[in-house]
Amino acid sequence: MKPETCAKIFSQRETVKGHFLMIVKAPVSFREAIPGQFIMVRLEGGNSPFLSRPFSIYSIYSRGDDTFVEIFYKVVGKGTDAFSRLREGASLDILGPLGRGFDVPASCRKVALVAGGIGVAPLSFLAQRCGEDIPGTEVICYLGAGSSEALAGLDRLEKICSTVEISTDDGSRGYHGSVTGLLKRDMDLYADDDTRIYSCGPRPMLRGLQELLKGRPPGTCQVSLEERMACGIGACLGCVARIRSDGEKGGMVRVCKEGPVFDIDRVEFGE
Ligand SMILES: Cc1cc2nc3c(=O)[nH]c(=O)nc-3n(C[C@H](O)[C@H](O)[C@H](O)COP(=O)(O)OP(=O)(O)OC[C@H]3O[C@@H](n4cnc5c(N)ncnc54)[C@H](O)[C@@H]3O)c2cc1C
Ligand code: FES
Repeated sequence: MKPETCAKIFSQRETVKGHFLMIVKAPVSFREAIPGQFIMVRLEGGNSPFLSRPFSIYSIYSRGDDTFVEIFYKVVGKGTDAFSRLREGASLDILGPLGRGFDVPASCRKVALVAGGIGVAPLSFLAQRCGEDIPGTEVICYLGAGSSEALAGLDRLEKICSTVEISTDDGSRGYHGSVTGLLKRDMDLYADDDTRIYSCGPRPMLRGLQELLKGRPPGTCQVSLEERMACGIGACLGCVARIRSDGEKGGMVRVCKEGPVFDIDRVEFGE
């Protein structure tokens, strides 16, 4: 099992209202991380008032011998609020990289990313890696949010993706409606075998995407599930989700260990 490590915050800033980009100096082992993997974070020392919180890896880079991990998060409760108040030099306990990331076949020529809100975090890292590892692959990102002010992570996506398509629920920017509605408009572009779709976002959005992709071959689309997690390492069973194990039979699996990335056709989203 990987040990928890004390890590220092290198920088932190609010990018879009309520969304923070935190850069943490991390152990060199993080260089091996792949998009879709995550990190457990808590206030240093274990005497914090809350358990560790899971965050996707937004990016990783090295400068000399140092390794830096970027976390892009939205403040939703007491843990994320406490993190947002930390400044450069503050210490955190971190554990990772954890879980199973996205699979991108080397033969892939077109990638569609479907991001709902802060679900953009693991997909942005995936877009970056596709550009580096499979040059020539077209990466199109569909980014959805409630309104134009809530479009988090857009600046970076515009730098690393071939195209960024935007939807907002209130119509203040881009397509007026859901991000799956926007993807539906373009579905004919993603009919070929060398195309893959990757997604992360709220459950209702993922359920809508599963519906839209019905009839597509298994493996066409992978999603990252953001279940609530306590340990992040498979020990507490706090994160189980129902996944179809063989196309018919259901099974409860630990999202932190067997996921968080799954083929969308295997996920049972329920009502
Ligand atoms: C694998 C994984 C990767 C994640 N990556 C990111 C990321 O990159 N950026 C980011 O902002 N968030 C991410 N999350 C979600 C993040 O972990 C939660 O927002 C965070 O734990 C909330 O902690 P809190 O103490 O602020 O909120 P709490 O006080 O614990 O809860 C506040 C509210 O948020 C809801 N909530 C809490 N946890 C989750 C969750 N996991 N999913 C949906 N709703 C939740 C609660 O139901 C409640 O309504 C990820 C979750 C997982 C499992
Ligand atoms: S969070 Fe403990 S088993 Fe997954």
